Amino acid sequence: MLKVAVLVSGGGTNLQAILDAMDSGKITNAKVSVVISNNKNAYALERAKKHGIEALCISPKDFEDRAAFNQAFLEKLNSYQVDLVVLAGFLVVLPEAMIKQYRNRIINIHPSLIPSFCGKGYYGLAVHEGALARGVKVTGATVHFVDEGTDTGPIILQKAVAVEQGDTPEVLQRRVMEQAEWLILPQAIDMIANGKISVCDGQVIVNE
Ligand code: GAR
Repeated sequence: MLKVAVLVSGGGTNLQAILDAMDSGKITNAKVSVVISNNKNAYALERAKKHGIEALCISPKDFEDRAAFNQAFLEKLNSYQVDLVVLAGFLVVLPEAMIKQYRNRIINIHPSLIPSFCGKGYYGLAVHEGALARGVKVTGATVHFVDEGTDTGPIILQKAVAVEQGDTPEVLQRRVMEQAEWLILPQAIDMIANGKISVCDGQVIVNE
């Protein structure tokens, strides 16, 4: 059974999609051991608690400096001995030591087709604002492993979503969530939990 930590900062609809997929059997051989937020008001924490999952907040604001936060954060995460860390709308830069320790064991959902509209400053609604400003006709979402860069790690799954005439960033964001994020994030977790993914030379190989 793959033990998963889900890191969140906001509403937690991706967390909900993961929990629903576990309940319905779309994800097998995995369970969420803990949900960690940097924001005590994140609704994602409520979603976790409603599901009987341990939910906690650890915020950089409560520490003297970033180094102290990073150390406490990593110690807390390590205490759960998870096999996989899922970033589901987690908006904090990860400690380098964590990326090193959990190499190829941290995945992130990003709301665009990487390498478009990703990297520094592209998170949440800003991603969809960028897509609309550029006038792309197709966008989507990407699940990737996390490395030292911003949205640069090996790509696991991508799904395209149409941009429609008259879309606002909010409307597009919702469509990308419904048609892509909430599907491919659970799918990637299921693939990892069932040993279907390996990483070789920075590329994801799917073993069917
Ligand atoms: C999601 O759209 C996710 O892709 C995005 O934040 C949102 C969180 O929503 N993540 C990023 O932009 C990371 N660069 P949620 O809290 O409802 O799952």
